Amino acid sequence: MDAKEFDKTAREIYAPAYSENAKQILAYAGITKGSCIDLGCGPGYLGLALAQMSELNICLIDKDPEMLEIAQQNICDRGLESRVSKLLADSSNLPVEDNSVQLVVSRGSMFYWDEPVKAFNEIYRILAPGGKAFIGAGFGNFRIKQQINEIMARKEPGWSEAVLRRIGPGAPEKWRKILLQTDIPDYDLDHLPAVEMWIKFSK
Ligand SMILES: C[S@@+](CC[C@H](N)C(=O)[O-])C[C@H]1O[C@@H](n2cnc3c(N)ncnc32)[C@H](O)[C@@H]1O
Repeated sequence: MDAKEFDKTAREIYAPAYSENAKQILAYAGITKGSCIDLGCGPGYLGLALAQMSELNICLIDKDPEMLEIAQQNICDRGLESRVSKLLADSSNLPVEDNSVQLVVSRGSMFYWDEPVKAFNEIYRILAPGGKAFIGAGFGNFRIKQQINEIMARKEPGWSEAVLRRIGPGAPEKWRKILLQTDIPDYDLDHLPAVEMWIKFSK
């Protein structure tokens, strides 16, 4: 994935989805203080929206140094250096203590994880007791998805099909099979085909 190109699309086209996703996450988790990880953060827009809507201390994690460079610039541009940091790491091996994080979020990243079972186990390992995770992908609501779809379908042929492969009708079954292999005892999966799919669990 080209970091600069993704950042441009995220800023110019996906932008309305991030604040909507952040609202959904805060409404679900009811956690507004403590530590939060945005895993596979890319340029960081979800984590940054969460920081702006809460008192959370956010760590933006990605395995791509170029994405983190852009994320660092975004942190500075918003004056959020005291509450938002960045960390280079792979989802399958997180350099984070057991039972230490109140909230783990991840948007649009799990489809790229080479070892999704390990990654979900890592998320569960680092969650603090009472902590919550909100992992998946989504455009916030149907209206925002429609707006984004109109632009992306013109800009990138094949984009709508890629969305369908990730969060279309067949997606929950694929992810339920993966989740069965993890240490996570229980989870909820919210799915609105081609609009969002979120895997939610707590510890
Ligand atoms: C489609 S982008 C989504 C970025 C951001 N979450 C967003 O919604 O704008 C996927 C991101 O996941 C990151 N990624 C992919 N596999 C990863 C892994 N195994 N560990 C950490 N980050 C990963 C990529 O580098 C990329 O920045």
